[in-house]
Amino acid sequence: MKSTIFSGVLATLLASSAAVLAQDYNQTDPFFLKVTSPTNADVDGTFLYSCHAGAAIQTLCLGTKDTPTSLVSAGFFYNYTVYDGQAASSGLLVWNLPYTSGETGEPATVSLPLNLNYNPGSNVASTLLQPGYDSVSVAFAGSNLVIPSYIDDSTFVAGQRPNITGATTPLTQWYACWVYVGSYYYNALAWVTNGAPHNPTCQAVSVVRVDA
Ligand SMILES: *[C@@H]1O[C@H](CO)[C@@H](O)[C@H](O)[C@H]1NC(C)=O
Ligand SMILES: *[C@@H]1O[C@H](CO)[C@@H](O)[C@H](O)[C@H]1NC(C)=O
Ligand SMILES: *[C@@H]1O[C@H](CO)[C@@H](O)[C@H](O)[C@H]1NC(C)=O
Repeated sequence: MKSTIFSGVLATLLASSAAVLAQDYNQTDPFFLKVTSPTNADVDGTFLYSCHAGAAIQTLCLGTKDTPTSLVSAGFFYNYTVYDGQAASSGLLVWNLPYTSGETGEPATVSLPLNLNYNPGSNVASTLLQPGYDSVSVAFAGSNLVIPSYIDDSTFVAGQRPNITGATTPLTQWYACWVYVGSYYYNALAWVTNGAPHNPTCQAVSVVRVDA
């Protein structure tokens, strides 16, 4: 659970890309993410933390069952917008990557959104936290982390354009799997796009938000 210190050049890049991408969001207080599983005692009750998978690329690893003592690696935030007094039905899960500013030498952070890394050869998508435009829209159903789905293509009829109403179904296809991310092999949170996981190490889990 080391925090990562970047070189001045990378730090400057991070700071400028964060500035370019800055969008206004409301942000919750930090919270922890707990993995629960009624069927697998090993993963049940573990906390997720952000672990290194490349330069400014992290994934969500399974940690221990002890409540995290530090918000640095295990504190997550929910970024959402509010329009006309209504919170949007989905938002971003973010984590703050600590680095040392190349300009000031002071500690700084850059906010990384959760994204999924789809694998053309598997239905198991690994979780990524990385700078850039790509992110996956998430929401909380009560305290459960879900991905809202607008479209169920299993109901499609050839040549008949489906009515997309904007109504969403909260999907919870979270799994704890041994995954290859970057050049690292981790027991990490993953998303199974459909059906039974192609990867035999995957255990079905729920991801629950717990106040930090
Ligand atoms: C999340 O919201 C905070 C507060 O508005 C903002 O500083 C940060 O850049 C946002 N993160 C992302 C990934 O958009
Ligand atoms: C943040 O929340 C306030 C209060 O609900 C709202 O007025 C404001 O527009 C929100 N900001 C964004 C970027 O959604
Ligand atoms: C979409 O809605 C229209 C009007 O309500 C209806 O006639 C049509 O059959 C619907 N299409 C599908 C695919 O459900």
